[in-house]
Amino acid sequence: MNSAETSKGLAVVTGASTGIGYELAKCAAQDGYDLAIAADEPQVQEAAMKLREFGVEVEAMQADLSTQDGVRRFVAGISALGRPVDLLMANAGRGLGKGFLDEDIHEVQRVIDTNISGTLALVHDIGNRMRARGRGRILFTGSIAGFMPGTFQAVYNGTKAFINSFSLALREELKDTGVTVTCLMPGATDTEFFERAGLTDTKLGQAKKDDPAFVAKIGYDAMMDGEGDVVSGWKNKLMSAAANVTPAGMLAKQHRKMAEPGSAKN
Ligand SMILES: NC(=O)c1ccc[n+]([C@@H]2O[C@H](COP(=O)([O-])OP(=O)(O)OC[C@H]3O[C@@H](n4cnc5c(N)ncnc54)[C@H](OP(=O)(O)O)[C@@H]3O)[C@@H](O)[C@H]2O)c1
Repeated sequence: MNSAETSKGLAVVTGASTGIGYELAKCAAQDGYDLAIAADEPQVQEAAMKLREFGVEVEAMQADLSTQDGVRRFVAGISALGRPVDLLMANAGRGLGKGFLDEDIHEVQRVIDTNISGTLALVHDIGNRMRARGRGRILFTGSIAGFMPGTFQAVYNGTKAFINSFSLALREELKDTGVTVTCLMPGATDTEFFERAGLTDTKLGQAKKDDPAFVAKIGYDAMMDGEGDVVSGWKNKLMSAAANVTPAGMLAKQHRKMAEPGSAKN
């Protein structure tokens, strides 16, 4: 069993109960980092048990990171460990399908609060401590969805456009401080995301997807190398390059074909 004295340091991962976040936590554990992880559901404790099999210490907290109170409780839990945070992977996020006017407005708010407000509150607190210490690595999970107006997923794509942009700006602000900032931009990845977002009857929901372990490794390595941003997989690289030169109105039309409810049947 590793301890504060023998481990490489402490890695914090949000949304580590499933999907990309769990795989990011696994990368850090395999690399010898102890972990502080959080997710909204009790399943985070099962994830912690599996991660302990890598011989590292794992603190797991059930916290709703869409609320300032949830973020405060998680930050307090991390502080109670009495150790500096070496790696912060701000990954927790959720999607939301259907047309905007047909979505539940409380769900809309929850997506914004999880993907943006909660993420920023956590990064503000831990980022300040990293800067004061002159050391640290931050990884955001953005998305290639942030490159296109997301017809029938408009709020989600907007939140990811925010994160993609914010991450690069923060990186520039923190240059020369010893703190690096990286943004992982995955394409469609095989996780619980699509079911939770109500997207299973869409072309996007039924499309072939990347393995979350593959995606997480790309993001983890990019963070450790101090890169600014990374799109996972060559197909997604092509898509994001094309998105950069396609008029936004055209991208919105294309997104309709992928994300319109019932589009899986067409
Ligand atoms: N899958 C994709 O195609 C894809 C593509 C690009 C980017 N992404 C991004 O990748 C990240 C991870 O998603 P995923 O695909 O791995 O989906 P996932 O399997 O659904 O994982 C999402 C994780 O975030 C946690 N989470 C959600 N809301 C939370 C909240 N309010 N408070 C605390 N934890 C919360 C979930 O925990 P609970 O289960 O406890 O709620 C879960 O651990 C997200 O930021 C997503 O936007 C995904």
